[in-house]
Amino acid sequence: MKKRIFSGAQPTGSLHIGNYLGALKNWVSLQNEFESFFCIVNLHAITLPQDPQILKQKTLDLARIYLASGIDPEVSTIFIQSDVSEHAELAWVLNCIARMGELERMTQFKDKSKGKTERVGAGLLTYPVLMASDILLYQTDLVPIGQDQKQHLELTRDVAERFNRDFGETFKIPEAFIPPVGAKIQSLAEPAKKMSKSDENLNGSIFLLDDADTITKKMKKAVTDSGTEITFDNSRPAINNLLTIYQLMTGKTAEECEANFAGKGYGHFKTETAEAVIEYLRPFQDRVKNYTGEELKIILKNGAEKAKTIARETLNDVYEKMGIVGAIN
Ligand code: TYM
Repeated sequence: MKKRIFSGAQPTGSLHIGNYLGALKNWVSLQNEFESFFCIVNLHAITLPQDPQILKQKTLDLARIYLASGIDPEVSTIFIQSDVSEHAELAWVLNCIARMGELERMTQFKDKSKGKTERVGAGLLTYPVLMASDILLYQTDLVPIGQDQKQHLELTRDVAERFNRDFGETFKIPEAFIPPVGAKIQSLAEPAKKMSKSDENLNGSIFLLDDADTITKKMKKAVTDSGTEITFDNSRPAINNLLTIYQLMTGKTAEECEANFAGKGYGHFKTETAEAVIEYLRPFQDRVKNYTGEELKIILKNGAEKAKTIARETLNDVYEKMGIVGAIN
């Protein structure tokens, strides 16, 4: 029996190379070794206000991006979170297990609600519980994510362990898969911050669908550090970040990357890095246009049906263990 992986992304904003290098790229390389579930988490998206028409469109666009990245629907299960209502049901149950204190300690909640806790929806606080439900429903072994989701995975493990202790062995305790390189791609404009879909400064992110001109311009504008060395050095976050992007886009070793730029200037370095990104994204960008709405619907419907069978089994077990018994079934 293959072990299972589960991961997902929100259909909000535009996906950037951070999402790709931190997560999607690894989903693709792990999908043959594991039984894989990749979810479009549209219920997570509404923890912040969304335009309904745009959310609808972005949900299908994200399915296109998953497929164009190389996720093979013959091998992996791709589905939309809201199609499998068990996610929302288990989230309610786990909301009664998770503790306010542990949710309030989540750094993402603290960042997003800073100074406005009276005005943000309660869903922003309980967001990691829905994420825990996503993962635990599938008895997941491994969760490939970027660094920013690590704390949510730790909470998932804590909630699962608490449930197992109180109600008996029910959930598998999942492990995070965080890539050694690329788990936290930083903003090109403000290298102290992570590259983020919600960043208002569009020059900070290279989006997967940016054209060659835009990529070149953004790379030219990228902030650099003082000094001239082009080496991997954590104390020089801007150059370190660009070199990491170059490394992942070319598949070279760290030593080869440093040797390639020895004695060269920042101008040359930025041009070559922009070219590497453009070349890397080209086949992806060609593929993304290929899928018709009809094809997507079939893939997503099949995915949801497969996911639902497994999710229901786990949820039934949870209800049984907790004494949640209705009159109909
Ligand atoms: P989301 O949609 O914000 O991001 C999708 C994936 O991209 C990773 N990521 C990054 N990796 C490297 N550098 C960056 N700058 C960067 N920015 C984002 C994220 O870590 C993530 O892996 N809560 C999740 C979605 C989710 C989920 C799940 C993930 C819901 N349920 C269950 C795994 C399992 C999120 O908002 O990802």
